[in-house]
Amino acid sequence: MQDWQQHFIRVGAGGSDDYRQAMATCTEQITALFEAAQAPYSGIDPLALRAAIARQPLSQESVVPLAAAIEEAGTLIGRNSILVQHPHCIAHLHTPPMIAGMVADRFMSAQNQSLDSWDQSGAATYVEQHVIDWMCELFGYAGSGDGVFTSGGTQGNIMALLIARDWAAHRISGHDVQRDGLPPYFSKLRIVGSAKSHFTLRKAAALMGLGQQAMVTVPSHPDGTMVVEALEPTLAGLRQAGLIPFAVVGTAGTTDHGAVDDLRSIAAIAQQHQAWFHVDAAYGGALMLSRARHRLAGIEQADSVIVDFHKLWFQPISCGAILLKDRGHFRHLLHRAEYLNRESDELPNLVDKSISATRRFDALKVWMTLRAVGAATIGAMVDHLLEQTQAVAGLVRDRPALRLLARPSLSTILFRYVGVPQADALDDFNRRLRVGLLKAGVAVLGETMVDGQVALKLTILNPCLSMGDFEQLLDKITDFAARLPPAQQPA
Ligand SMILES: Cc1ncc(COP(=O)(O)O)c(C=O)c1O
Repeated sequence: MQDWQQHFIRVGAGGSDDYRQAMATCTEQITALFEAAQAPYSGIDPLALRAAIARQPLSQESVVPLAAAIEEAGTLIGRNSILVQHPHCIAHLHTPPMIAGMVADRFMSAQNQSLDSWDQSGAATYVEQHVIDWMCELFGYAGSGDGVFTSGGTQGNIMALLIARDWAAHRISGHDVQRDGLPPYFSKLRIVGSAKSHFTLRKAAALMGLGQQAMVTVPSHPDGTMVVEALEPTLAGLRQAGLIPFAVVGTAGTTDHGAVDDLRSIAAIAQQHQAWFHVDAAYGGALMLSRARHRLAGIEQADSVIVDFHKLWFQPISCGAILLKDRGHFRHLLHRAEYLNRESDELPNLVDKSISATRRFDALKVWMTLRAVGAATIGAMVDHLLEQTQAVAGLVRDRPALRLLARPSLSTILFRYVGVPQADALDDFNRRLRVGLLKAGVAVLGETMVDGQVALKLTILNPCLSMGDFEQLLDKITDFAARLPPAQQPA
């Protein structure tokens, strides 16, 4: 037997022994890591960490047994990683994943199914389609709709706008963008969303050859929602200027405010202007499972919706989906390859609907979670987080050294430290406070801008936290701020 065979699972009795042992060692390292964890980050100086990682040689001569590499992964990498499960790791839309999803990840990596074609996936193709059909039902697309898993919101937004662009070019002039490239009027195409819509829409416009100029923004209210009254005049103004607003984007959960746009009103205006209506529900899509689902009213009228399961559905990264109300629009993404998805194939090849070829079986994570946890339980977790966020906002309001900057909508708190000595500029102080807390391993907070001011952000995605955890976090922030040395004056 070649020595390298030990590095693979072989079919048949005993062929998984090396795997079993490696996974047992891995599980031990991981549990040890969480049991010993005291902080959301070890506090090691970033430069020292970089040097320690660079010191691990990657040459063939330095190869160690797998058990030793697993130990290194635990002690050097795991211990110095950002610990999303820690109560004071609360910066981003970056969730502690559920165990059901992690278990699915183990199946996925061992079996390594690829969702481009049936002959690389078998059951996996049907599982993904089953989950997608369930999502279509949930979002009000049953019958006409379809979807596909994505690597997350970025890919979903790109796919939605790409399909919208090609749909619009076909409708306007019978132009086939996939075959012939951009239409002659491409520089006039415009996408309209709110000022708080996600940056990946602009990125999508750039990638699609329309340029970032194609993204036009409508103002947002202080709470982060779109000023819907400004949408109609914006669309009319663009048309008057000879431009073509072909897509309107509503956001169900903006990244900072968690703001949910008035989707019903936006849908009506988009329809009036014969524009594609896309909803970015990367963050807020999970409201559909909660008591707050009425806040998404109108989403069923969208032509496309994206959802991130690696946000409020508590799945390991990466895991997202795009849904289309009319499954026929997936034809804009269809490319045939003789070796993969022949027209004559009887069995389904999901590559027909995706911009990826080789694709992970992320649907198994959602399937496992729905089977073992259940949609109602996820909905209850979301409701709990929404309520808890309001209570945490109360804690912030009660502290004179902190100022709440916006009323929370979903599960984010925007605030800043204001108890600084007069000489210190607030923006600079809050920036230094966040970085100081991070580097010292005390707390991992978000930082953003609210109304032109530097803001700190708590993104509350961990359903296992108590109010005591938040009291403690706010104590730590205020204590650290009180001891933060003054800014160094430029020489
Ligand atoms: C509203 C919104 N849309 C899209 C995205 C991009 O999603 P992803 O990071 O999964 O690519 C994010 C990311 O936070 C988001 O908040």
